[in-house]
Amino acid sequence: MGYNLLKGKRGVIFGALDENSIAWKTALKVKEEGGAFTLTNAPIAMRMGKINDLAAQCGSEVIPADATVEQDLKDLFGRSVEVLGGKLDFVLHSIGMSPNVRKGKDYGDLNYDWFLKTLDISGVSFHKVLQAAEKTDAMNEWGSIVALSYIAAQRTYPDYSDMAQAKALLESIARSYGYRFGQSKKVRVNTISQSPTKTTAGTGITGFDVFFEYARMMSPLGNATAEDCANYIVILFSDLSRMVTMQNLMHDGGFSATGISEELIEKLSK
Ligand SMILES: NC(=O)c1ccc[n+]([C@@H]2O[C@H](COP(=O)([O-])OP(=O)(O)OC[C@H]3O[C@@H](n4cnc5c(N)ncnc54)[C@H](O)[C@@H]3O)[C@@H](O)[C@H]2O)c1
Repeated sequence: MGYNLLKGKRGVIFGALDENSIAWKTALKVKEEGGAFTLTNAPIAMRMGKINDLAAQCGSEVIPADATVEQDLKDLFGRSVEVLGGKLDFVLHSIGMSPNVRKGKDYGDLNYDWFLKTLDISGVSFHKVLQAAEKTDAMNEWGSIVALSYIAAQRTYPDYSDMAQAKALLESIARSYGYRFGQSKKVRVNTISQSPTKTTAGTGITGFDVFFEYARMMSPLGNATAEDCANYIVILFSDLSRMVTMQNLMHDGGFSATGISEELIEKLSK
């Protein structure tokens, strides 16, 4: 049952690849809360065809766009405003990919062309999305734009590799663009730092199962699921959070504020 928190609001959701995607769960939640939106992903991800099932469930149009290509983004915002019948109130950037991680490159042997690709896809694309939204004048006043981050932006997780730099960049862009968009249009810009989550991007990291379990043990509430994240995103899209901007919001069951847990002490003292 929804609460109509997003009734009458329009938006764009990036990054729904399959049923496990955080963006997929968010789309379903936003729909339940009365929001209308277009769905988008990189043309290459369309080949899986799953996004069309989600679009059918949500009554959404799918508009392919590579988030690293400025013209794709401008076309996407223009078309979304047209299809939805008015300017936008929310945008979710749920995008991440590192060729170095995907191809198992050691952090001391990175391919720098791929490193730049990681930064472009997972970090700079957020700036491109924000800039395209501003240039096409696609946002309504008091709109909300959210991207997804990970605590590796602040602390080292060796297997997260160059994605750690991309997330640090992403969070920094939220602050800089949040200032600009807040002043010009009262649009808020935030990142959510999410617990490890079993999705295609998440499980692509070496040792994922171990740090998923470690994070669970270290979090008094346990790991936040993709559904939990979708609920939090709904709040950030709603009018209930209208004065929150330029923040990196920890959504991790308490992980980031825990030094050590009793469960871990017990396990390690055996
Ligand atoms: N899964 C986790 O453990 C976890 C934890 C914290 C943060 N995050 C972040 O959440 C976000 C969503 O990831 P997810 O876990 O739902 O995995 P996912 O694999 O389902 O989603 C990643 C999406 O990025 C899209 N993408 C890649 N390159 C693109 C491009 N050039 N243009 C447009 N889209 C592109 C993919 O097609 C895919 O839909 C990412 O930013 C990820 O880093 C994930």
